[in-house]
Amino acid sequence: MNKKDAIGIFDSGIGGLTVGHQVAKLMPNERIIYFGDTKHLPYGDKSKDAIIQYSKSITQFLLHQNCKMVVIACNTASALAFKSVKDLCEQKAIPVNVIDPVIDFTRNSNAQSVGIIGTKNTILSDVYASKIQALHSKVNTKSLATPLLVPMIEEGFYQNKISNTILSNYLEREELQNIDHLILGCTHYPLIEDEIKQYYKGSVEIVNSAKIVSKHIEKELIESDLLNTSQSHPKHQFHVSDFTDSFEQSAQYFFGQRINLKETRLK
Ligand code: DGL
Repeated sequence: MNKKDAIGIFDSGIGGLTVGHQVAKLMPNERIIYFGDTKHLPYGDKSKDAIIQYSKSITQFLLHQNCKMVVIACNTASALAFKSVKDLCEQKAIPVNVIDPVIDFTRNSNAQSVGIIGTKNTILSDVYASKIQALHSKVNTKSLATPLLVPMIEEGFYQNKISNTILSNYLEREELQNIDHLILGCTHYPLIEDEIKQYYKGSVEIVNSAKIVSKHIEKELIESDLLNTSQSHPKHQFHVSDFTDSFEQSAQYFFGQRINLKETRLK
């Protein structure tokens, strides 16, 4: 592993760009190779075996590009496939998931009642609730699967009437009442963070994993002496398994540069 090697980041679609964007902001010398598995989107309702298989082939692709780190910027794949990705990375790259840094974050918060929203797979895996309970048994957790949010965001529906209606319909549910923190347990959700904040009007603290994970990545790179400190004006690479205009527009929006989106088919 070398300081100049890229950071590999993957998700089912544009969600992981929220993590990539924060990484680029915090560590501007780092080069990113991003893979959006748009062909298999959404991951939220696929089988565990399928998620493991997709995650493994993307990891192999990123390792082949000599990435020094593989970031699973997807909660669903972090919940179901982290072990498989970690095994593949061995000594070749540092594996990072998006769940453990958030659990770590709750360690130092004053949360009493934590709401978690995510895909069906993430919520069914119970990973957030069980890890939080194991850390602090007195903290109450309340989980709700919000499966309409990923397709809604992928289609560019945010800050409009439709997204407002869908969102309030979920946030009003019995399952999420009386919470003081809300974990955005899906990397797509930071894209609707403003709307979620507008709904709660400051009464609930929103936990945005994209920011937390990027800080964790920086810490890991410093500890392994792999942070790229030389001025490098990196040219990021963006790959998708199935070309979509909306992905290209979102990546451009996030990275503020013309991007060259490549369609890359994996075995
Ligand atoms: N961004 C992914 C996550 O964090 C979305 C999953 C999906 O494709 O349904 O879980």
